[in-house]
Amino acid sequence: MSFLSGAHMTGGYGGADILHDCTIGVERGEIAVIVGPNGAGKSTAMKAIFGMLALRQGTITLDGRDIGALSPQERVVAGMGFVPQTSNVFRALTVEENLEMGAYIRKDDYRETMEQVFALFPILREKRRQPAGELSGGQRQQVAVGRALMTKPKVLMLDEPTAGVSPIVMDELFDKILDVAKTGIAILMVEQNARQALEIADKGYVLVQGRNRYTDTGAALLADPEVRRTFLGG
Ligand SMILES: Nc1ncnc2c1ncn2[C@@H]1O[C@H](COP(=O)(O)OP(=O)(O)OP(=O)(O)O)[C@@H](O)[C@H]1O
Ligand SMILES: [Mg+2]
Repeated sequence: MSFLSGAHMTGGYGGADILHDCTIGVERGEIAVIVGPNGAGKSTAMKAIFGMLALRQGTITLDGRDIGALSPQERVVAGMGFVPQTSNVFRALTVEENLEMGAYIRKDDYRETMEQVFALFPILREKRRQPAGELSGGQRQQVAVGRALMTKPKVLMLDEPTAGVSPIVMDELFDKILDVAKTGIAILMVEQNARQALEIADKGYVLVQGRNRYTDTGAALLADPEVRRTFLGG
């Protein structure tokens, strides 16, 4: 069983099921990437693992503990950080205020963690007094990731962290995500930039219509002619 695992997940938003016996997992210090076409259920799988969706079937575990009955907020306390696909920063608040909001569940001194976030993303220190809405797209994604890191999560879940950024900024973000994984955090990430994401992935999941289509190491998926032709543009 993986450190973070969503096993045999079946369910949806109340109507027809979106996920069908879908299984996703990630280990400590590793990066797992979910790719697949639009509407495949990638975000739905992330929401299910984070507890924003009531599953009809399936088991969510973190470090061997069944967390399926916990609310999203309780899952944050249990060690999960989640950066959703949209609306992942408070645009009217400054960068620093966004990071403080991220620390909301902590009762201890979080300044050291904020220093770590600034060390990881130096531009955020420079811009800490600016409203997040005034930052570039790539910088806002750094705020969103930094906010999630403020709770010192054991697993970090990122839904399309490089959406709408240039290829250079994407590479920079992927480098930072690798740095975060090296600290021992498990990273579960959905990515549109499938080829580049699989290059840094220990494990990759190709989802189609809410089902696991291919599961393998990132390198094996990149080398698979069928996966390349169907999902990676050749
Ligand atoms: N809140 C919701 N209520 C009802 N159906 C939803 C909701 N959110 C998503 N869906 C439906 O669930 C299916 C999967 O959507 P999901 O957002 O998980 O796909 P995705 O793989 O993340 O796609 P994308 O690449 O566009 O982000 C789609 O058919 C979508 O219309
Ligand atoms: Mg999505």
